[in-house]
Amino acid sequence: MMEKLVTRFRAVFGREPDIIARAPGRIEFIGNHTDYNGGPVLGAAIDRSVWVGLSVRTDGVRRFASEVKPGVVALEASGPLERLSGQKSWVNYPLGVLAAMRDTGVLAPAGFDYMAASDVPLGAGLSSSAAIELSSALAFLEATGASMDRESLVKLGRKAENEFVGVPCGILDQGVSGYGRKDHLVFIDCRGPRFDTVPLPAGSNFWIFNTHTKHALIDGLYAARHQECMEAAKVIGVTLLVDATPEMLAAAEQKLSRTAFKRARHVIDEIGRVSGAVSALRAGDLGSVGKLLLASHRSSRTWFENSCPELDFLVDSLEAEAGVYGARLTGGGFGGAAMALTSEAFGEESGQRISDAYLAKFGSRPEVIHARTGDGAALVKGSR
Ligand code: GLA
Repeated sequence: MMEKLVTRFRAVFGREPDIIARAPGRIEFIGNHTDYNGGPVLGAAIDRSVWVGLSVRTDGVRRFASEVKPGVVALEASGPLERLSGQKSWVNYPLGVLAAMRDTGVLAPAGFDYMAASDVPLGAGLSSSAAIELSSALAFLEATGASMDRESLVKLGRKAENEFVGVPCGILDQGVSGYGRKDHLVFIDCRGPRFDTVPLPAGSNFWIFNTHTKHALIDGLYAARHQECMEAAKVIGVTLLVDATPEMLAAAEQKLSRTAFKRARHVIDEIGRVSGAVSALRAGDLGSVGKLLLASHRSSRTWFENSCPELDFLVDSLEAEAGVYGARLTGGGFGGAAMALTSEAFGEESGQRISDAYLAKFGSRPEVIHARTGDGAALVKGSR
């Protein structure tokens, strides 16, 4: 990937990138919609990243290019930081980071040539957006010589996503991209937030099945779920659902709208499942972990209503396949991808069988990815 980035950088800008940074995509392992409710979540950084190359310019012009989008977007550094639309909208990620740096008083570079390249599949629920935010942030910081601790870096990426890109996401995506570690899961207690890693038992394998489906109203649906959770917390009498117990939910059932009750039921149970998964992982009990993944998916389907027929079909088919411990939708839902935790007994042929069955039912193939875990965001080439 790095070679591809450098070749493209040379072709477009006629020079070398002085700085190179990368940040990985992520799998949401378990903890569905728990993050913005202050709960815990487990994720894994994958061995695919968004790469950013950057060289400073002295004329105050910021030129953005991407290996996957046509053209170069040139903006005056002295001009206002405004959201772009259409073909150029991908630039909102690095622009969002620059806006977040400005708003938090961190020095940002004025002029530069910027190139992004990625082997994180786009729109697959693997958080290429958090990956481009963190890799951009590392490159910008290196360009001005500013330093930032990991937690502030993660928060900067989330601020860009929340305030500039306009998605009210929690800390999961940026947290896992920032704190990822090969052969480990990242545990985030989202209220702190507090970050930790949990070793993956040997022989754990991840398979991703990207449906390429995306609900047309996905952003609105995510925001609506967020809203419904906050409404439930208010009626139950807590600030965030992490402070509500199953008993408190039962006691408040009559006062809650049916929708708010269902959303809270999912989140409160899911918080329990994350704790259960951490214990089972530490005990090396992948069978129990798998059962929790399946229970998580069922809860998404029934209570949170963020699954869809394609994801349900994948999870049901995977559950019946040899070598699968468990499977569930991964990420926000309403389309996107399902993931399976498997043993070595699940291989390319098993993936092919799932893909064939999916093709027969839905008329197209899912993208099948055997994902390996990888390390978190890092500066690869510095200018100093
Ligand atoms: C998306 C968001 C995350 C998280 C998940 C659901 O991936 O970006 O912050 O809320 O959905 O768990």
